[in-house]
Amino acid sequence: MNSTAAYIEANKNRFISELIDLLRIPSVSADPAFRGDVLRAADFLSQKLREAGADKVEICPTAGYPIVYGEKIIDPDLPTVLMYGHYDVQPADPYELWNSPPFEPVIKDDKIYARGACDDKGQLYMHLKAFEIMMQQNQLPCNVKFMIEGEEEVGSNNLNTFVQQNKERLRADVILISDTGIIANDIPSITSGLRGMSYVEVEVVGPSRDLHSGLYGGAVANPINILCKMIASLHDENNRVTIPGFYDNVQELTTEERTEMAKAPFDVEEYKAALNLGDIYGEVGYSTMERNSIRPTLDVNGIWGGYTGEGAKTVIASKASAKISMRLVPNQSSEEITEKFQKHFTSIAPKSVKVAVKPHHGGEPVVTPTNSVAYQAASKAFEQTFGKKPVPVRSGGSIPIVAMFKTELGLDTVLMGFGLDSDAIHSPNEHFGIFNFLKGIETIPYFYKYYAAMSKG
Ligand code: BES
Ligand code: MN
Ligand code: MN
Repeated sequence: MNSTAAYIEANKNRFISELIDLLRIPSVSADPAFRGDVLRAADFLSQKLREAGADKVEICPTAGYPIVYGEKIIDPDLPTVLMYGHYDVQPADPYELWNSPPFEPVIKDDKIYARGACDDKGQLYMHLKAFEIMMQQNQLPCNVKFMIEGEEEVGSNNLNTFVQQNKERLRADVILISDTGIIANDIPSITSGLRGMSYVEVEVVGPSRDLHSGLYGGAVANPINILCKMIASLHDENNRVTIPGFYDNVQELTTEERTEMAKAPFDVEEYKAALNLGDIYGEVGYSTMERNSIRPTLDVNGIWGGYTGEGAKTVIASKASAKISMRLVPNQSSEEITEKFQKHFTSIAPKSVKVAVKPHHGGEPVVTPTNSVAYQAASKAFEQTFGKKPVPVRSGGSIPIVAMFKTELGLDTVLMGFGLDSDAIHSPNEHFGIFNFLKGIETIPYFYKYYAAMSKG
């Protein structure tokens, strides 16, 4: 056993219990009721960063939740890795679907169950512990900076300003993020792209008040009926999005690229079984893996209006609303897509209703280079600890700040995640495998080692 593995073996119980302490803090950024907890998570991390040996640790205020910063500069002439993560988590509702309370972490079948276990507390904490190991063993081969934010799950609204105002402090050679996943524990992979996002909320307003559905039904436009019709019309019979110009800038992959992609292991039957699906579904002409990575989509994320309480109430609601997200791929622009959506959605509404479209956060898609020194270093690190060369995989999720880092700091990102699709992030019973947590801690120092070594030559 080498020294890193030995250190992990000797300290793994403490690593896990520290993570559990972090997971106990309900740092839900979306809900102001948790404000104090979100701030407590930032405190906790700043203290742990300091204990691990970081200098200039600071809780940097923003207009929203603070950014935890820390660094270790061993030699200004050596390369610098800028680690990014987020300490905020998604809301835990619906609570009743959790087998154990979301903020009272439990270990079951070698997995830690808690909101944020994988996304992203478990994954960001791997970096703190990997840093601790490198510091303790005098092995840190280059400089490192940590930037851990508290608003990722609500659109990273204040990170852009922070980055713009701190360009010098954040100067680095590469960004390193663990907030994605691998294909399986025996099939390591490195995420080579993320989708972008346009998120909108729509409201359809009909009559000025709720109406008796017998006295008025059939004679006035029912906003819920209309909204459903409008939403249904956003896809055609091939499950393609009907918004004019939606696909205009979509980069089509070459046949070779698609063939290469199809080599990544994927079993449709297993996929169906895991989600209890009667059948797969999606845009005609594309595989499941393509549908959730290289193709843009439009999905309703929530829809409401009218009476949803116990029993029956005969009413035509005055309003109906929906939240809709569109996942974007290179070279779609979130601003353009939001605009096209707004124009189209307003244009398809009958005169009998009024429609309002409110844009929420957006983010640009990215493809990260797989020929860079940093990617190669990550690849070698995975190969070292998993015993297999990782495959590059484009993910369907979004981390909007990755494109922003490229624009603002000119830096590419290495997406070195260790989660699994089955970890149920954003869902009840989110969990993170202890294997994955410890493997991440073991793999990260190798990334630093190879990255520093390969940057020299
Ligand atoms: N870590 C996820 C994104 C992710 C997960 C990417 C798994 C790839 C694989 C991140 O925290 C997230 O949830 N992002 C949001 C977007 C954000 C603007 C709310 C998403 O993808 O919905
Ligand atoms: Mn995340
Ligand atoms: Mn998330």
